[in-house]
Amino acid sequence: MRIAIITGASSGIGREFALVASEKYKFDCIWLIARREDRLRETASFINTRTRIFSLDLSLDLSLRVLEKALEEEKPVIHLLVNAAGFGKFGSVESQYTDDVKNMIDVNVRALTVLTKLCLPYMAPNGAIINMASASSFLPLPYMNVYGATKSYVLAFSRALADEIRNTGVTVTAVCPYWVSTEFIPVAKRSPQGESINNFLFMTYPFKVVDKALLDSDNGFDVSYPNGVPVIIKMLSRVLPDDMQRAIWNKIRYLRIFRYNQRFPEQLPLQ
Ligand SMILES: NC(=O)c1ccc[n+]([C@@H]2O[C@H](COP(=O)([O-])OP(=O)(O)OC[C@H]3O[C@@H](n4cnc5c(N)ncnc54)[C@H](OP(=O)(O)O)[C@@H]3O)[C@@H](O)[C@H]2O)c1
Repeated sequence: MRIAIITGASSGIGREFALVASEKYKFDCIWLIARREDRLRETASFINTRTRIFSLDLSLDLSLRVLEKALEEEKPVIHLLVNAAGFGKFGSVESQYTDDVKNMIDVNVRALTVLTKLCLPYMAPNGAIINMASASSFLPLPYMNVYGATKSYVLAFSRALADEIRNTGVTVTAVCPYWVSTEFIPVAKRSPQGESINNFLFMTYPFKVVDKALLDSDNGFDVSYPNGVPVIIKMLSRVLPDDMQRAIWNKIRYLRIFRYNQRFPEQLPLQ
């Protein structure tokens, strides 16, 4: 059975991947994974392909075991794996709730790594793995510290994996957007120092990120930049001294321009 597996499919970029990939490619079934079952069902209702819904908290070991068992039972041929589940919290490490810090690492790093590893034996020879990294992976980011560090991991992990499995024909693409208009920002702001980042200039949309990511994945690129903004950030992170990079970030993160108007407050997850 030819399938796609998409985590974070209840919202934002993961949901967009589910909608666009189901139109663009042919699958027998799409596995949709996130915690909010009602939102996964909503995503499924817009898809013409058969779906299987896994309402799972990916910060838990048990959830990864559920997926491992499902793979063993079904023995699917995975043509597309998208690891889009993830979240961040704004504020200093000291100010953040310990559970948030732990869960950021568990979802963004641990679940992504373990699920990728579990899927590798089932990947189709020309299959694709797409991992959501971020422009925050390019440099140390005070007040998005742990989140940025998890995304540095995702970028490094994805690029090295792309190299390790290149001879199998499976591609690995790390997607590195700057701000995207999703539930990510209101979730990140719901923390004790949520106001420590207020400037969301150059925000883009999920469909732009996903269209470019699928194109880059089809072309076998290891990294996908949705537009020029992350490219410029990456170049600056290479040429500017470290303390100058952080000084610039600390200046712009506070600017109360382009504030995000919370569009989904009543639907936000618990996190
Ligand atoms: N938006 C941005 O500015 C931006 C920029 C760069 C990179 N990214 C990355 O893009 C990816 C998608 O984020 P988004 O912007 O689409 O944000 P989003 O709308 O908040 O979506 C996050 C998704 O992750 C899922 N998720 C979170 N915690 C989970 C958990 N414990 N178990 C299972 N699923 C969980 C959520 O589902 P449930 O709540 O239903 O569990 C949701 O489907 C993330 O990895 C994010 O780090 C986002």
